[in-house]
Amino acid sequence: MRYKHPHGNVFYRKMAHARPQISHGEGIYLFDDQGQRYIDGSGGPLVVNVGHGHPQVTAAITRQLEKVAYAHATMFTSEPVEQLSAELAELVPLPDARFFYLSSGSEVIEAAIKLARQIQQARGEHGRHLIISRWHSYHGMSLGALSVSGRPGLRAPYLPMLRHMPHIAPPYPYRDPVSGREAADRLEQAIQHYGAANVVAFLAEPISGASLGAAAPDDEYWPRIRQICDQYGILLIADEVLVGMGRTGRWWGLDHWQVTPDIMVTSKGLAGGYFPFGFVAAKGEDVNLLQAELDDFNHGGTFSHHAVGAAAARAVIQIIQEEKLVENSAGMGAYLGQALRHAFSEHPHIGDIRGRGLFWGLEMALDRKTKRPFPAARHLAWEIWQAAFDRGLIVYYSQGCADGTNGDLIMLGPPLIINQAQIDEMAGVLETAVQAILG
Ligand SMILES: Cc1ncc(COP(=O)(O)O)c(C=O)c1O
Repeated sequence: MRYKHPHGNVFYRKMAHARPQISHGEGIYLFDDQGQRYIDGSGGPLVVNVGHGHPQVTAAITRQLEKVAYAHATMFTSEPVEQLSAELAELVPLPDARFFYLSSGSEVIEAAIKLARQIQQARGEHGRHLIISRWHSYHGMSLGALSVSGRPGLRAPYLPMLRHMPHIAPPYPYRDPVSGREAADRLEQAIQHYGAANVVAFLAEPISGASLGAAAPDDEYWPRIRQICDQYGILLIADEVLVGMGRTGRWWGLDHWQVTPDIMVTSKGLAGGYFPFGFVAAKGEDVNLLQAELDDFNHGGTFSHHAVGAAAARAVIQIIQEEKLVENSAGMGAYLGQALRHAFSEHPHIGDIRGRGLFWGLEMALDRKTKRPFPAARHLAWEIWQAAFDRGLIVYYSQGCADGTNGDLIMLGPPLIINQAQIDEMAGVLETAVQAILG
């Protein structure tokens, strides 16, 4: 029996779903305890970048564990945290960047929202309390992060518990072919509607992640967003949790447009899956102002600034630099795009193929001409995901891109170490899986 039914003392998100037991990982591959090999074509949910079982990361973590595993950040700083911050300051676009570390994407989003509010308070802007974000976005599962997320299905059970935060429509060229300028102007309209004096920040993914599968705006969008934020004194928060760390062929998603945010967060790839870790970063001048006016950042966490996480992240960054993985993401990403177009551009039910670097999305359509999606009840994306998984390929999937409920996406985001032969194999398995489900 390859898949285990969850009959033990554990429960998972998909409760009835049987799953194999993981044994080990190596490079782009995972192996279950029955010896089945899987190509990790999505790096989990876009996490694994330097590959599985990288000895340099294991060694860095072990070295830190042998020194000390835990010392609380209210009492100590640590060498890995100090060094990582100095190294990251060279990599992020923020001037004189300062970093605050937590354990997950949701946590750094919560921290970013609070940091933005506190920076506004330090500026004397005490009335500002709204975060404008976008529909078709995902920023995390905690209630604050869910309040700013734009996935109706995930929000529905908790709606009475969420804070109202304004959402605007995202750039989504496949289904909403307005110009980037028009899409960005929706932010200005929302600011005027809610009153600039009430708005703390605009929060968005530079390139849409799990909700829209690598949908990217044209070149006007982000510069115009930056302009609007400056005009109304609104902070720009870039959620680089999924698209940061080289995933899209540049270190950061916003690097594609040379736009500098005021606050940025990343997590998933920061420690490559070896440790739960993420950061929120801000400009030095804003952190200095906060300190001068408010003394402290009113936020924290038992596991903040974890030295083992920082050691893992330092090793991951070193590997990305030494093995030129951002460059590989750009080069192999272009190759993956070609392979996907070759396999699927004539397929009657693949409506759109889009991506940057090693992050690609396939959007399914019942009818390519009208772009009508498959009915949600069919769970098509999940069917394809399962067909690929059964054939030894892990992809990422989501549903609801078309209208919040309908619309199926399959995403690829393999480790950034992948090579051409492995991409050929991955695209071949995906083609077989899609054929098995859609013909
Ligand atoms: C863009 C983005 N932000 C935030 C999160 C939340 O991260 P986590 O699942 O680590 O809490 C995710 C997770 O998928 C994400 O894709």
